[in-house]
Amino acid sequence: MSSTPIAVFDSGLGGLSVVRHLRQILPREDLVYFGDTARVPYGIKSRPTVAQFALETAGFLLSFEPKLIVAACNTASALAMDDLRRELPVPVIGVVEPGARAAVRLAEGDPLAVIGTEATIGSEAYRRAIRALAPEQPVVPKACPLFVPLVEEGRDCNDPIVKLTVETYLAPLRAQHVKVVVLGCTHYPLLRDAIGSYLGPEVHIVDSGRETSLAVRQHLREHGGLSTDGTPGSMRCYVSDNPQRFEQVGSRFLTEAIEYVELVEPERYVNVPRLPSTAK
Ligand code: DGL
Repeated sequence: MSSTPIAVFDSGLGGLSVVRHLRQILPREDLVYFGDTARVPYGIKSRPTVAQFALETAGFLLSFEPKLIVAACNTASALAMDDLRRELPVPVIGVVEPGARAAVRLAEGDPLAVIGTEATIGSEAYRRAIRALAPEQPVVPKACPLFVPLVEEGRDCNDPIVKLTVETYLAPLRAQHVKVVVLGCTHYPLLRDAIGSYLGPEVHIVDSGRETSLAVRQHLREHGGLSTDGTPGSMRCYVSDNPQRFEQVGSRFLTEAIEYVELVEPERYVNVPRLPSTAK
């Protein structure tokens, strides 16, 4: 198992913000990534649709016989984690629980905000995860639906549209003097500088990508799954639409070149029967 890859999926580019941390924290691991760029965004879709897309996207990755799957998508983690854990024959780690843990630690009981897609915020998954750790913790949720299209379009933090959108969504958080903001969408770390400069240096920003990568390392350590190969891990990316665009915009965000991107046609992932469940 130690020589098989870690599989990572998201609706599009956002999961690369998790991959960036995985590459730093687990540099010897081979990674396979699937961005469902044909069907992004997930964050405005209903629970059954998100669950179906997440199962198909993760199901495609099973063909690489991964040792573990990372749901590098808060929307899928918030709405479909039970389905993923029930249906997939390998362990699945999501981004909600690791992010919630880090946020509670930093907030020390002061108000904590969670920003995410409409679906993630509507699911209340963060509120539940936070309350399970700290029942009295004040939580301020805020959906920021325009952030994902801005990132997918490759807009950066200096873009006036990004600045205006950040200001519009986050003004209530500033007014409530939140101490911590959880980036509850894996696309949002790509807007981190704009979010940080609007909220000010005293507000802690939790990027669940780092916390999730640490959780992955811990899981692999505990289960003897860390790669024993001394060579740097490889990275292969698969997308359901427009690989050229993914490569261009993604390399910028990943801060390394994406060398391998392959287009996956619908018949390879939509409605494909998954492997039968085997023992984890
Ligand atoms: N990056 C994903 C998330 O963390 C999904 C965004 C979307 O597709 O709407 O929620």
